[in-house]
Parts: sequence; C-alpha cells; structure tokens
Amino acid sequence: MCGIVGYIGKAAAPPILINGLRRLEYRGYDSAGLAIIEEGKIIVAKAPGKVQSLSNKTRDEWPQERFANISLGIAHTRWATHGPPTEVNAHPHLDQAGNIALVHNGIIENYRSLRSKLEAKGHHFLSETDTEVLSHLIGDRYKGDLFQAVCDALHLIEGTFGIAVIAASEPNKIIVARRGSPIVIGIGEGETIIASDASAILAHTQRVIYLDDNDIAIITADGIDIRDLHNIPVNREISELEFDTGAAEKAGFAHFMLKEIHEQPDSLRNAIRGRLDFNLGSSVLSGMGSSPRDLAEINRVVLIGCGTSLHSGLIGEYAFEDLADIHAEVQQAAEFRYRNPIISRSDLVIAISQSGETADTLAAVREANQKGAFVMGLCNVVGSTIARETGRGIYLHAGPEISVASTKAFTCQVAVLLMMALKMGRSRRYSRQEGMDFARAIEAIPALVAQVIEQDHHIAQIAELYYQNEHAFFIGRGPMYPVALEGALKLKEISYIHAEGYHAAELKHGPIALLQKGTPVIALANDIPGKDKTLGNVEECRARGARILGIITSGDHEAAAAMDDVIEIPACHPLVATVPTAVALQLFAYHIARLRGCEIDQPRNLAKSVTVE
Ligand code: AGP
Repeated sequence: MCGIVGYIGKAAAPPILINGLRRLEYRGYDSAGLAIIEEGKIIVAKAPGKVQSLSNKTRDEWPQERFANISLGIAHTRWATHGPPTEVNAHPHLDQAGNIALVHNGIIENYRSLRSKLEAKGHHFLSETDTEVLSHLIGDRYKGDLFQAVCDALHLIEGTFGIAVIAASEPNKIIVARRGSPIVIGIGEGETIIASDASAILAHTQRVIYLDDNDIAIITADGIDIRDLHNIPVNREISELEFDTGAAEKAGFAHFMLKEIHEQPDSLRNAIRGRLDFNLGSSVLSGMGSSPRDLAEINRVVLIGCGTSLHSGLIGEYAFEDLADIHAEVQQAAEFRYRNPIISRSDLVIAISQSGETADTLAAVREANQKGAFVMGLCNVVGSTIARETGRGIYLHAGPEISVASTKAFTCQVAVLLMMALKMGRSRRYSRQEGMDFARAIEAIPALVAQVIEQDHHIAQIAELYYQNEHAFFIGRGPMYPVALEGALKLKEISYIHAEGYHAAELKHGPIALLQKGTPVIALANDIPGKDKTLGNVEECRARGARILGIITSGDHEAAAAMDDVIEIPACHPLVATVPTAVALQLFAYHIARLRGCEIDQPRNLAKSVTVE
C-alpha cells in the first residue's frame, strides 16, 4: 500500500528518497512524488506510474549540482483511494500558501466536511484526495510552529494516518505522526531517516524506533523528540532490525516471489528451530505465554485473518480440532467486528498476519480485546502494529517477504499453527508418543519442501501445458481444501487467470457446469483420508473433458493413473502435507505468470499490506 520516506541529515536528499521509495515498491502503488526545500521554497516533483518515472523526472529537471546541498525531504508512493492515480493526486500535497508539504498513508474519513469548511474560508483544492485537505488544514492552523499546527489539525481528523510534514519556513525538521498506519524512525550518525516500512531504512541504519498510535515526533538530523497529541513527551524504545539489506535483495532470482519460494526450507527451519520438544512430545512456544493448566481452560480457538493468512487459519482449524480436540473456527477478519461475534474469556483468538498491519485484522484484534478474549498474534513483521497490540504471540521468523504474493509467510504460518496445536493438544488428550511422532513430522517439513523445490524445472514444464487457459479450478478435501483455496488465490493474483478453489465435493453442486473440454482442474489428491472420494470427483471432471493436474503422493500409481499430469509430494502426515503441496502450487502459479509475461512481484491493483478497510 502507500509508502512514506523522509530524510534529514548531511547527504543529498533526493537520491536517498528515490532509493527509499524503490525499497517500498513491493508494497504496490500507482504514482510517486517527493518534496524538498530550496532557498526558502518547497519544490515538488510527482509522476504517475513507477518510481522510475519520478526518478527520470527529477534527473532531467533537477541537476545534481543544484541539489547536492539539499539534505531534507519527504517522498511517497501512492496507492489510489480518493481519485485516480494522476500526477495531481500524487503526494506530496501543499497547503494553500505553498509553505507546507505533506505525505500521508491512511484515510481521512471526515475529509468532505473539512474540505467544505476550508473552501468556505477561501481554500482552493487542486486534487480529489483526502490528503490535500489535511495539508490545507495544517496550513490553516499554522502560526509559525509546524509541530503545533500538525497537532491542532490532527485533533480534528477522523480516520487513520501515518504522515510526514515539512515547512519551508522551518527547514531543519520533519514532523511525523501516526494513527493506524506505521511510521518507523531510523537513527543514523548525524542523519535520521523515516519510513512507513523498515525496508526503506535498512541501507542507513538498523537502529529504529516504532511510533505508537497518536505519537507525533519532531525529527532533526541528530534528534528525535516524541510526544503525544497533547504535547506530553513519551518514551519509545530503540529496537535493532533483525535483517540486513541482503535479505531484501533478489539474490540472483528473476523475481522476489521465486526467491522467496526457494527460501522456504530455510525460512521454515527458522520458524521451527528451538520450538519442538521431542522429549515431552510438545512444542516450546513461550509467546503463547500460558501454563498447560491455562491452556487446558481454553474452550475454543478462533482464527482470524485475510487472504492467504485466512487460508493458513483454515488449516489451523483442522489441526486444533484434530490434535487438541478443541472446537476451532475461522472467521474472516473483515467481518469479525461487524457481526458482533460471540466471544468469551475462555476463547483464544489468534490473529494471523504476515505484515501485522492489515486494517481488517487489526480492527478484529481490537474487537476481540474489547470482548475480553485471550488474543494472540501470529505475525512476520517484528514490531508491527498487530504484534504490539496483541502483546503476546509468536513471530514467524520467515524473513522479509517482498513479493506481494505471500509464499514463505504462508508456509511458516502453517508450521507455527501446527506447533501451537501440538502444544495445545498435549495439554489435553494427545499422548506423549503421539506428540513425539507429530513433532518429528513437523521437523521434517523443511526437507519435504526442499524435495518439492527440486522439481522446479518439472513444474515449469507442466506450466507450459496450462498457461494459455483463462479459467482453472482447484479442488481438495480435508486440510487440502484450504490449500486448494490458496492455490487458486496464488494463480489468480499473479497470472490474472480466473481461478477458483472448491472443496472437491462442492464441484458437483454448481461449478461443474463450467467445465468444458480442456478446462484445467488441479486436484489435490494426496494419499490422505478422503483420497478415494477425491479420485471419484476427478473422474467426474474427466468425463466433462477437463484436463487434470494431480498433486499426488510419490509412488501412488492409482492416483497417477487418474491424472493427465502429476506433481509428486513426498509421503508425510496429512496436516504436514499441506505445506509441500502449497509450495508445488506456488511454483505452478509462478511459472504460469512468468509464461504469460505478468509483472509477478507487483501484480496490478494489489498492495503488499492492505491498511485500509
Ligand atoms: C497473499 O498472496 C495476498 N496478497 C493477500 O491475500 C494477503 O495474504 C492479505 O492481504 C493479508 O495480509 P497479511 O498477512 O499481511 O495480513
């Protein structure tokens, strides 16, 4: 989604801002812009499209020698919400006097009424955005103190914001503030860089401060003064970023998505390392923060998330019921607070989110907290809002996921959910021996995934047979049903093929009407309970002329004979098999998108983290 970068220090700001924006490109955006201060005036450059267009523009119009001494600026990548992705709607936006420039992530919900009031006072707006209203509002309140003007304006705002603001009349500071949209401050040597995401900061420093909601900070080259919106100083800890710039590079792969797929044996090892107790037949997840006795008192597990994270939750649902004999259910985060869910203090609510910033999941966390549930986060991004607001939970340790299509975060989510279910199971009916066996099954996941990745070339060849179709159906049963949903999501988001995932039994209740000669059906027919029925459904599809790609267990000749093409998954526990099966589908989607010439890492209309409802 939108990205913010700001710099103040000793180096030339424009190239630093452009490089910072490049680091945020993965989040998805459709225009970009930046603002600096030169000789007492704000100068702005904006361009629709890629950061490269902005870079070309600044290179042509802003000769290096002229801007070598400009060491302060703010920049933005915009993902359109209010008004199309045009140059005029791109950020930064100026106030009426042209003294103040603002970049903003989030949504100002009451911008219409604020705009009318400002128009009545003579303000003239150039764009259709909610953000321009905030820049004018700050300008309207400005009486020579930018910090105070921002504070005053923010008191009038309903909605969410992460902002960075500069004023030509106060050229030695940047004001940043947040409510519901992250701001990270990187502390360098004689320079400070701010961003909406730590990846834009890494090239400068690994020492960062995360702002909390309703924090506002005055940033200078060598100082950070954080206050609340009532001007009371607040203390925020300095954290060390755990990854370096290398982790955010492509490392020789054509796309971040392919790199992240290939990283999975390692990311899974990191997610599992030190968390299995083979002696007790359990898992060591201190983030769950409860004694076996407390865990035994939990009556229900509610898993919430969106998109891919919702799908891992669906696999978790099977695991909690199967291993822990505990009622588990998945709820879509976007619906959670609106349906007034029945939640009690004996419910464990697990919020699953790679980014830890998804607006719907965050809102659901707040609702669950409000209702007194025991809430836990399952996040990848350390220090993210959901991780902090849940207060307890488990980090995935998958490393930074840059590609918009989630891959390694999904498989690590599943691995962690299996370990959580194991721990919960051991506080109930799961025996020590069963626990020891399942712990061994989890331990094997990285090696199983490596065996699937070895088939990359074979999967690429299969993709050649399917990439020209415009529709595809993914079917599965039991824990493979959510994997079918995830496989379909992966394919549609990066290849733009219309793909649907169904429970294998659901096909004949409607969707089978769409099958014609050659329609691809991807059947998850692993050798797990229900396989025979899935093979029956495969026959029904074949009878309608569909072309079947079977994901089957290695050496299962019966299943192989039912398919047109196969990808083999090593034999393993049915719940564990969800992980290597998902990896096979990730590679299938990747190669199809590559053959169709799609922009894989930044698919159209999508953003890496969806911070608006
Ligand atoms: C996955 O490939 C997606 N692009 C998307 O569905 C994503 O999983 C969803 O937006 C939730 O994000 P989160 O895990 O960061 O909360």
